[in-house]
Amino acid sequence: MQRGRNEACLSSLGMDHSTVPSDNHPFRAYPLAVRLLRDPQYWSSSVETFGKHSQGESDRFGYFGGTLATPKTIPNRFILRRRDLSPLPTTRPPWPDPTINPLRSQPSVLPPDVIVLLELGKPGVSGHASTAHGGVIASCFDEAMHKAIETHLPRTGRVERPYTAQLDIRYTRPVRVPGLLVIRAKVVARIGRKFWVRAHASQELDTGEEIFTTDSIALFLMVAPSTRL
Ligand SMILES: CC(C)(COP(=O)(O)OP(=O)(O)OC[C@H]1O[C@@H](n2cnc3c(N)ncnc32)[C@H](O)[C@@H]1OP(=O)(O)O)[C@@H](O)C(=O)NCCC(=O)NCCS
Repeated sequence: MQRGRNEACLSSLGMDHSTVPSDNHPFRAYPLAVRLLRDPQYWSSSVETFGKHSQGESDRFGYFGGTLATPKTIPNRFILRRRDLSPLPTTRPPWPDPTINPLRSQPSVLPPDVIVLLELGKPGVSGHASTAHGGVIASCFDEAMHKAIETHLPRTGRVERPYTAQLDIRYTRPVRVPGLLVIRAKVVARIGRKFWVRAHASQELDTGEEIFTTDSIALFLMVAPSTRL
């Protein structure tokens, strides 16, 4: 991928690297992914192909498990979770001003709670030639933000789940496919049932430079299953 004019650059997000992904790691071919996988501030579980979600107890993960998780669409996903999470602010955050560079506008996505690596297939997620469909990107943002919220919730005894109430996305630059998409997501505030989450997506150019493609902020509300059909 070549870099065009006026593109924001994420290469200043310097990281301290310490571990090396195995030779058969599916993201090993992507230098940006390898850099992120080596970041000691994040931990990861195994590679997720989404496939296991389609065999769950209900249809809760059906969209990702059955539709997005195919060899032609998003064959691989990897989630890096931040080891040391900061306490969540309890004041309503500003909604980012669309006239301000997303990398500088508040609330900041840095440091992200989660970094999601996605391998996007072609033509499986194409909306235009060699370009990911905006709806697919929105789904990926929604899911990454959901993961960010989960990192702040206790793992046991939780029955409420976050539902997307408002999702605002700015498509700054086309997401090229096939290739790697990196989504950084961070919960920027919580007030009661409400979680606000900011996220950025980026890709790597052939030069090795990481460039910003997409900006998002969303509001999620925790909902108890008993209130759903
Ligand atoms: C989001 C949803 C759960 C909120 O319904 P609810 O639990 O009854 O919440 P309420 O209407 O009582 O609103 C609670 C608060 O959230 C705010 N809120 C609710 N929906 C909102 C929205 N879409 N955008 C912004 N704020 C919203 C309300 O203004 C209210 O704020 P307040 O406490 O300051 O007065 C409900 O609208 C819903 O189920 N929407 C569909 C969600 C969905 O299916 N998402 C896709 C799958 S995850």
